[in-house]
Amino acid sequence: MSRAEVYGVVTFYHDFRTSPPPKHVLKICRAEACQASGGTALAEHACERLGLEFGEQTADGRVGLEAVYCLGLCSVAPSAMYNGRLVGRLNTAKVDALVAEAEL
Ligand code: FES
Repeated sequence: MSRAEVYGVVTFYHDFRTSPPPKHVLKICRAEACQASGGTALAEHACERLGLEFGEQTADGRVGLEAVYCLGLCSVAPSAMYNGRLVGRLNTAKVDALVAEAEL
């Protein structure tokens, strides 16, 4: 494969990386059902709490914030995934608890 082909694959799929991943990853669903259930405000809350934009991680590599587009939990939207664990009926208290858990 050419370098261009490898680069194209690595940069297309979000789970491929060119640098080490953060220790903890909070993924918040940004798809339609979650947006319709208050997910946009929760996403903004998570950004504020972590001081990050989506796709960024803390300088110490402890926490990363990522957007996902449907976790298959639309019936309990808004939804998130924390270190591979699914979280439904997300609210500000749950976001705060996940951030606190990540910052331990
Ligand atoms: S749209 Fe968020 S889980 Fe399906």
